Amino acid sequence: MIESKVEVKGFEAKHYDFLLQLGSFRKYGRMLKNAIAAMNIQPDDAILDLGCGTGKNSCLMAEFLERRGRILGLDIGDEMISQFNKKCAAYPNINVEKKRIDKPLPYQNEFEKVFLSFVFHGFPDEKRNRILANARRALKDGGQLVIFDFNEFDPDSKPFWFRIGFKKVECPLAFEYITMDWKSRLREQGFDNFEERLYFMDTIRLLIAYK
Ligand SMILES: C[S@@+](CC[C@H](N)C(=O)[O-])C[C@H]1O[C@@H](n2cnc3c(N)ncnc32)[C@H](O)[C@@H]1O
Repeated sequence: MIESKVEVKGFEAKHYDFLLQLGSFRKYGRMLKNAIAAMNIQPDDAILDLGCGTGKNSCLMAEFLERRGRILGLDIGDEMISQFNKKCAAYPNINVEKKRIDKPLPYQNEFEKVFLSFVFHGFPDEKRNRILANARRALKDGGQLVIFDFNEFDPDSKPFWFRIGFKKVECPLAFEYITMDWKSRLREQGFDNFEERLYFMDTIRLLIAYK
């Protein structure tokens, strides 16, 4: 049974990175690199990558780490995990585990950063609170929650070609997500001191919030 709207399976999972690059008119790769560069990753950071997908993001983040830094990716998709293992095989300090991020996780005060890339919008609201609680618990004091996902925006204010693509591809949860005041929500969940960068006609945001 598919519970979140960001579960990716079959053909889509197998070719996920390629399809993303194609669907974004080849802009996604560069945007992602810019966003990860803006995370200010330190060489000894421990990073928890929730809903880590194919490992593309973790490999890019690993470029900023030295051996004493580490990344743990969590995902539920077998196809995604297998791609992650292949892609990140060259990095001894990156691992992936099959775990649901919308159920209680065992990590406590362990990570400098928790990264959520294009996964958070795809959950029903009560599960988003569970994910935020997991992230907050996993972070060390002063650690950063980094959400790379849709910004708050009105699709009708965007060019027609974007509107049509967005409405065709995205799920109802994404439409709800983009209407929400995420800084207020994050404040209620124990995060503060926001930093943000906007991309792709202000429809995508790198939002950093501190525990
Ligand atoms: C849209 S993809 C994004 C992948 C990656 N973060 C990226 O930016 O490329 C969403 C990912 O979340 C994973 N996912 C969906 N529901 C999940 C859950 N409940 N727990 C863990 N991972 C989940 C999917 O398997 C998929 O790999």
